[in-house]
Amino acid sequence: MPGPEQAKPADTPAPAAAAQQNNVWKPAISQALEKTAAMIPYFEGKSYPHVSDKSWKYKKESYNNWTAGFYPGMLWLSYQYTKDEKFKQAAEQATTRFKDRLKNAGLSDTHDLGFLYTLTTAAQWMAVKDTAAKQTTVEAADALLKRYRPESDLIQAWGKKGDKNNGGRIIIDTMMNLPLLYWASEQTNNEAYRKAAISQANKTLKYIVRPDNSSFHTYYFDQNNGQPLRGATHQGYKDDSTWARGQAWGIYGFALSYRYTKNEEYLEASRKMARYFIEHLPPDQVAYWDFNVPVLADTPRDSSASAIAACGVLELLGHLPKDDKDRAYFEKFVNDSMTSLVNHYSTKNDPDAQGLLKYGAYNVNNKEFNQHTIWGDYFYLEALMRLDKGLHGYWYE
Ligand code: GLY
Repeated sequence: MPGPEQAKPADTPAPAAAAQQNNVWKPAISQALEKTAAMIPYFEGKSYPHVSDKSWKYKKESYNNWTAGFYPGMLWLSYQYTKDEKFKQAAEQATTRFKDRLKNAGLSDTHDLGFLYTLTTAAQWMAVKDTAAKQTTVEAADALLKRYRPESDLIQAWGKKGDKNNGGRIIIDTMMNLPLLYWASEQTNNEAYRKAAISQANKTLKYIVRPDNSSFHTYYFDQNNGQPLRGATHQGYKDDSTWARGQAWGIYGFALSYRYTKNEEYLEASRKMARYFIEHLPPDQVAYWDFNVPVLADTPRDSSASAIAACGVLELLGHLPKDDKDRAYFEKFVNDSMTSLVNHYSTKNDPDAQGLLKYGAYNVNNKEFNQHTIWGDYFYLEALMRLDKGLHGYWYE
């Protein structure tokens, strides 16, 4: 399978944002909306995409996976952008069954409830003020709070309490699940959600973010007393390497934690992780799957990491002062990286491809790469809509 075409060199000056809006972002959004609309009759509101096969086609999957919220999230964004009722109806249909999903104990005992419910029932509340959806979202936050382990003062990502391999293990991805907890505190005036989120953000900052602003994917603590043990990877190249998507989750997650807490340490963490991400990009501004992997002709990219990082840096930019020393640097990154994604990784010239973005990588260690990933599609759409209309998704109201 051919890799992405080489894009312009990184030092090409970024075109003015307004020109990008009319020449690049708007046509890219139109194309993305067409692809999203074409998914509606295929998934019929009852199945969900996860990753594509090698011919760029998604399988029809149940809502069991951690990724089931991203397609409904794309439908909600598409509705808010276009006000087209067909997207609203499809979004409601795809979101409806998430109420039942929460009642399934096997599916609701996971840190991924943030991804799942932020982009479904929270989105429904934020987009159309559906109060039942709001109630379900609070219940999802209750279920997520049960993943908080007081003995070790952390949110356990995977596995049951006491699990031999995953007990006491935190992962950087959880940073994106914390907005559900912050939001629930604001809605209910119950500080418990927010306290757990802050503990998790502090632990992630102290142990997962390394002194050079790179990151471990995961970190183990003694599950009985919270003593720190060691960093380790799951989807990265090595235990002490920097998995590109994990770094991107950190950029966006810390910027969102800053939004909810105004703790400057989180803003600085987001800034420094973003600088690390940008400094380690190849010339076409789209990340390889791990920043420490040897780069050979067939080393996989993870386009989803770059789409997430673009959203994270746009969120970060929203919190930086107008005259911040890094502003121009970050704006150039977003322009260059998103232009590269649109021109060389999107499916704009590929009518047979089902998703929006090619060359994502779920888990290279399991030979899962050169594929659409539904979260890559979601964050690509969110980034474009942030750039064009300031639509920021559902991580906050
Ligand atoms: N949160 C799982 C992943 O990024 O693959």
